[in-house]
Amino acid sequence: MKKKLVIGNLKMNIAPNELENYINNLKSNVNENNEFVLCMPYIDLPFLVNLVKNTNIHIGAQNMHYEEKGSYTGEISVKMLKSINTEYVILGHYERMLYFNEKNIDVNKKIKLALKYNIKPIVCIGSSATLLDEIKEKFNGLSKDDLSKIIIAYENSNSIGTGNMEETSNIDEKLSLINEIFHKEYNAGDLLIGYGGSINSSNINEIKNNSKINVFLVGSSSLDYKEFSKIINSVN
Ligand code: PGA
Repeated sequence: MKKKLVIGNLKMNIAPNELENYINNLKSNVNENNEFVLCMPYIDLPFLVNLVKNTNIHIGAQNMHYEEKGSYTGEISVKMLKSINTEYVILGHYERMLYFNEKNIDVNKKIKLALKYNIKPIVCIGSSATLLDEIKEKFNGLSKDDLSKIIIAYENSNSIGTGNMEETSNIDEKLSLINEIFHKEYNAGDLLIGYGGSINSSNINEIKNNSKINVFLVGSSSLDYKEFSKIINSVN
């Protein structure tokens, strides 16, 4: 069985002066052989790199711009992320699409850039009315080989940040549909597919053995190191 991966999306929480404490708590609570990813605010990343050297913790960003460089005040580029060895980047999160008007076509450009710079994209889907259209737009022009380097995270917008995880039967149904679309439209091989939306240390038991889920994307519950450690320790 493939090892399952837990990814924390810390969103706009944890300031640099809170980081060391948070990381130390995770280090002492998570089993040493459990690898996991922390997608942190940009400002934390350079500090995080030093704090997690030679540990089981991997570094991710929560977004990046779709151009390599240029006059985009306040933005962060793929090269900047790469310069500090960022390994993962969340792209097309529902909150980016909702609050920052990000479009599927922007996400598509970002995925291609991340792949070019060898940063693993964690691409969120599930925020549009139809999955097929969303997938076709976000993954337009990507090859089977490209898809093998991407994490596809299914998140139902009704479950993000609400405390109510989606019904497990619905999750299962959606993941089957996603697999079917990728195999039919992209001739995809083995995909790395994740679920996100109000995962906590209790409901993780309902989904952790679902063979269609390889990755768990955790928002609110990643802010509490005890809760987050329990989730990480329970999946493998
Ligand atoms: P949540 O967030 O766990 O707080 O629902 C998940 C996400 O937005 O990735």
